[in-house]
Amino acid sequence: IMTRKKPLAAAVIAACLLITGTGCTMLPAGNPSMGIIDIVPTPAPELTSTPKPTPALQTPPVATASPEPAVTDALAAATPDPNVGLPPQETPDPSKPMVALTFDDGPSKKTERILDVLEQYGAHATFFVVGIQLEKFPEIVKRASDLGCEIGNHTYNHKNLTKISPDEMREQINGVNRLVLEATGKEPALVRPPYGAGIKDETVKANVAYPLIMWTIDTLDWSTRDTQSTLEAIRKDMKDGSIVLMHDLYDPTAAAVETIVPELIEQGYQLVTVSEMFAAKGIALEPGKYYRKAFE
Ligand code: NI
Repeated sequence: IMTRKKPLAAAVIAACLLITGTGCTMLPAGNPSMGIIDIVPTPAPELTSTPKPTPALQTPPVATASPEPAVTDALAAATPDPNVGLPPQETPDPSKPMVALTFDDGPSKKTERILDVLEQYGAHATFFVVGIQLEKFPEIVKRASDLGCEIGNHTYNHKNLTKISPDEMREQINGVNRLVLEATGKEPALVRPPYGAGIKDETVKANVAYPLIMWTIDTLDWSTRDTQSTLEAIRKDMKDGSIVLMHDLYDPTAAAVETIVPELIEQGYQLVTVSEMFAAKGIALEPGKYYRKAFE
């Protein structure tokens, strides 16, 4: 994938990408056309629509789940509804199974639909955002963070880290960290390398001062754009400590999230962020190291 002849091939790829307009993160070996150019599709017509107003403070899911006029906010917070999963910010129980759902290449308007589900069930996920999208939707990233989700770094404009200089790597990553800090008040602690690139690249490992997070379950949602196949990919390989890769760019993905979140909770899984999961498993994340999973 990475050893192509450059100018002509790049031109062909550019043309091809312009036509398909696809914004994948991961490229299977048989699909080399995705590896070089970074195009994150923008749902152009929706840009003009008014984003849903974000409440300044997210109350726990109980507040919306039971319209109980007599219950005060403090009381509601103290008595979580057992039917709506984990309250936000709760520390996961290490003795129970857990999974980290992760979403790359956003934020986008589709992210809101995913956040609605996470909020409803008090579930956490991790969003590996790209800077060019974050600049368009900072309020969505703020909402995710307020819900207890983790915001990770997916570079400023989806760069393959193995194809840029160490200086560019730092720019790509520090730029997004600044944007996330501005939007949420917190700096990302994790990087997901675009295309999953660099796992054997010592230059990347030496120059990216953050843990590099891969995945155990690749749903290929960007390719199939199919809710059923996304669900099947998750169900087939789900186990305690899994990291699931999806993209918060597509309605079929959001639809899969609407099904899989209550299903996993029903099965006893805690839906946690990547950092929460590794902490609960007692695995210390180190800068410049790649991680695929939180199980042996
Ligand atoms: Ni990506």
